[in-house]
Amino acid sequence: MIFLVLTITAVVSAETIIATKSNFTKPIDLSYNLDEDTPGWFPDNHYARIKIIAGNSIPPDNAWYAENTFEAPEHIGTHLDAPYHFNKKGRKVADIPLETLFHVEGIHVDVTNEVHGEPKFVLDEHHLRRWTETYGKIESKSVLLINFGWANRYWNRSAYMGYNENSRNFPGISIPAARWIVENPNIVGVGVDTPSVDVGHSNTFDVHRILTGANVYLLENVALNNTYLPARGFQLVVMPMKLTHGTGAPTRIIASPYCIGGAGLAKVSKFAIFVMFVASLLKAHVR
Ligand SMILES: *[C@@H]1O[C@H](CO)[C@@H](O)[C@H](O)[C@H]1NC(C)=O
Ligand SMILES: *[C@@H]1O[C@H](CO)[C@@H](O)[C@H](O)[C@H]1NC(C)=O
Ligand SMILES: *[C@@H]1O[C@H](CO)[C@@H](O)[C@H](O)[C@H]1NC(C)=O
Ligand SMILES: [Zn+2]
Repeated sequence: MIFLVLTITAVVSAETIIATKSNFTKPIDLSYNLDEDTPGWFPDNHYARIKIIAGNSIPPDNAWYAENTFEAPEHIGTHLDAPYHFNKKGRKVADIPLETLFHVEGIHVDVTNEVHGEPKFVLDEHHLRRWTETYGKIESKSVLLINFGWANRYWNRSAYMGYNENSRNFPGISIPAARWIVENPNIVGVGVDTPSVDVGHSNTFDVHRILTGANVYLLENVALNNTYLPARGFQLVVMPMKLTHGTGAPTRIIASPYCIGGAGLAKVSKFAIFVMFVASLLKAHVR
């Protein structure tokens, strides 16, 4: 009986520790603000307010009224690439199933200390295998977030794109790593803190093609500059604007520890209540 209680307690502690070990106790916004300063893929890709209404115009007392009309590429700022972007038979934004966007597991692969700001760095299959050896298998619907340590350059377009004789230079994912990813059907999305999942100088976009070919969606320009995002033990809510014809869309991405109102809490709490119940029975019995 004591053994049973100890075992259950151990399970509960392991689940709780994953989410509470770091400073990560509140939801984190992994999206950048979208405005006129947002760096586009091409220098002339811009978010623009093509009409701005802001003034005291509502009768009878000239009350305040404000409304803008904006124009923007689908692939601007923190955004999602729908599989259709590089796969003719792939899903468009509005067709992506909700269960692959809402409360999926977040997998944070942080290679910042290996990249050291080097734009030629390529994330390879062995980095991903090492992650699973360290943190465990990816067994629930998950989105991989690859952190190259690139996010703090975001607001400086030339530093972020790594312009060098007019070609882009920033880290990306290798072809073997992309193949490794699509072999695991639990991985429903892949995000990066760079402008593209492919290396900056690519003009063949192999990684885009492999991932979207498996209906995996992509997240680009993800704000991964939060140092306390743990390797796992958190959930993601991915909210692209629901564009019917969207090949992509600006997207809000929120990471939160399982303890905040998620299914994780219910699971841990029920366990905890059960443990307390058994423990109290045991105490009574011992007396
Ligand atoms: C937690 O936050 C404090 C204060 O902001 C900081 O000094 C500390 O290094 C953080 N710990 C972790 C594990 O990030
Ligand atoms: C932006 O980055 C470029 C290239 O790294 C650098 O030369 C420039 O000084 C930076 N601009 C600002 C405003 O920091
Ligand atoms: C991350 O970057 C965003 C936008 O540049 C900034 O608002 C935020 O404070 C940064 N977060 C951290 C933890 O540095
Ligand atoms: Zn895109």
